[in-house]
Amino acid sequence: MAIGENLEKLFSLKGKVILLTGAAGGIGEVLARGLAGAGGELALCDIALEKLKKLAEDIGTAGDSARPYELDVTDRGSIKACVDTVIRDYGRIDVLINCAGINKREGILDVEEETYDRIMNINLKGLYFLSQEVAMHMMEQHSGNIINMASHNSVGMLGGCSVYGATKSAVTALTRSMAVEWAQYGIRANALAPGHILTPLTTVTWEHPQRSQYLKERIAMQRPGSPEELVGVAVMLASDASSYMSGMMIHVDGGCLAGGTPWPYDTKY
Ligand SMILES: NC(=O)c1ccc[n+]([C@@H]2O[C@H](COP(=O)([O-])OP(=O)(O)OC[C@H]3O[C@@H](n4cnc5c(N)ncnc54)[C@H](O)[C@@H]3O)[C@@H](O)[C@H]2O)c1
Repeated sequence: MAIGENLEKLFSLKGKVILLTGAAGGIGEVLARGLAGAGGELALCDIALEKLKKLAEDIGTAGDSARPYELDVTDRGSIKACVDTVIRDYGRIDVLINCAGINKREGILDVEEETYDRIMNINLKGLYFLSQEVAMHMMEQHSGNIINMASHNSVGMLGGCSVYGATKSAVTALTRSMAVEWAQYGIRANALAPGHILTPLTTVTWEHPQRSQYLKERIAMQRPGSPEELVGVAVMLASDASSYMSGMMIHVDGGCLAGGTPWPYDTKY
């Protein structure tokens, strides 16, 4: 079999309907273009509808397939309406990618209840109930694939990200629960954990001289990742190339979890 043919058989998303949340964000937008480019039919979901319309148009102009849908993951009514509309338009959802997420950097003692609730509601509760809604359709199909956006902060913490880190740790635990409970319905679930990626969510950190230096020392590759560098793993997780993977988290972090840059040591080379 020719290389291209073999790769296409493994990684093609042709005919797969992919509901992507946070599609108007720094990572979401790039994932949307990448997954559509691999053949996926993208249902782009976000609160930022105008951005989605423009993105869907761009993807269409490139010859790929995407439609915009307004979704507020903190509103159960919005979740139901959005999923119902996607099902009405496509008849099925093959892949759900939970990418919507927010952060606010504050020390534990400074976090107000409103901030706590907002981060929890978007990053965890919204993901939970959207997955519940979509999984009901996947169960009827007897097939489905869920990809939850985790983070380096699912495992390693920075100061000022206590609520965010708690939600991302919970997302990985929830991913394992989904894998365990829903395998009997043909649904698998995995988490993708980006390290430090340069997007609107993190520009403030990378523009800060001390913080960017601190981060570089903790990343073996000494630079932030680009959203484009997440696309390959996302395609792999969304495609049949990962058909026996469930309940796992994949880190894409430039060697951050590995230990970052080495301390000075003597070597004869
Ligand atoms: N940027 C990074 O370095 C990094 C690292 C690890 C994990 N992540 C995760 O990746 C995901 C995307 O991050 P990003 O950097 O693209 O962030 P971003 O801020 O650029 O995008 C987040 C998107 O979520 C949408 N959103 C916010 N509230 C919503 C709601 N209630 N309902 C629906 N959509 C809503 C926003 O409109 C935005 O388009 C997040 O889950 C984030 O936690 C990012």
